[in-house]
Amino acid sequence: MKKPLRKAVFPVAGLGTRFLPATKAMAKEMLPVVDKPLIQYAVEEARAAGIEQFCLITGRGKIALVDHFDVAFELEATLRGRNKEAELRLLADMKMQPGSIVSVRQQEPLGLGHAIWCARAFIGDDPFAILLPDDLVLSDTPCMKQLAEAYAETGGCVVAVTEVPRDQTNKYGILDIGTDDGRLVEVKGLVEKPKPADAPSNLSIIGRYVLMPEVIGFLATMERGAGNEIQLTDGMAKMIGHVPFHGLRYEGTRFDCGDKLGFLEAQIAYALKRPELVSAVRAFLKKYETVT
Ligand code: UTP
Repeated sequence: MKKPLRKAVFPVAGLGTRFLPATKAMAKEMLPVVDKPLIQYAVEEARAAGIEQFCLITGRGKIALVDHFDVAFELEATLRGRNKEAELRLLADMKMQPGSIVSVRQQEPLGLGHAIWCARAFIGDDPFAILLPDDLVLSDTPCMKQLAEAYAETGGCVVAVTEVPRDQTNKYGILDIGTDDGRLVEVKGLVEKPKPADAPSNLSIIGRYVLMPEVIGFLATMERGAGNEIQLTDGMAKMIGHVPFHGLRYEGTRFDCGDKLGFLEAQIAYALKRPELVSAVRAFLKKYETVT
């Protein structure tokens, strides 16, 4: 029997070196797209998929991420005193159930696989979702909801996948695929950052996963992989053959907000979705188009 998907982990302990100096004293995952930090998009997406328990995997200097989901009594009192109803509603909407969000410290950023292993007590014997907040997916149905629905069909592990240009496979976790119905693909193998010549396909994993708790045992070996990091991809690859394993071609557009260009593109795409901003944004895009 498939256990329901109720837990999600959010690895946020990376150094964010591609965003220095912005990330020198501030977490990358607190960078806002329009007016909302990346981590909040990820938590809201998980909630929309029926997740009830949340675990942030943090590191040094990442306290703001935990505080962001706490109640801000003084701020609320001040807003109430000023009759700022709309702003109070924003805060009320993001209020978490007491006890539903926890954090663990990774201590040292030894890789994404190590970060997930640090959440082992939270995960226990349950299936769990992983959302990497720096991957933002703009879609009609939230990406994690699409994965949760696929998990309800197939059980086992389900990862969100997308096609990437052949010459860029060395930036991603790449699938070796079996059967493929155009939406769900059977995963036969996984390779982290293969050279284009060695890549078994151009289907890449993005930062949305549903995994079985058995992955923790494989990560516990602390084997180093690509970039001398403890790679989640390597731990996942060891589960193939033991549990059903599928890739889901999700509906939506993904923005890599850990990268400057991806982050800038996300700002524009998300701003164009906001009724109160769209016409002004279109106007200034036109203005800059003509600047040489
Ligand atoms: P990235 O590969 O984007 O690494 O991590 P990074 O350190 O955040 O950024 P750069 O490459 O130095 O600019 C993908 C996700 O995994 C988390 C990151 O916080 C991010 O959400 N991560 C990565 C950890 O939590 N721990 C790690 O040891 C590595």
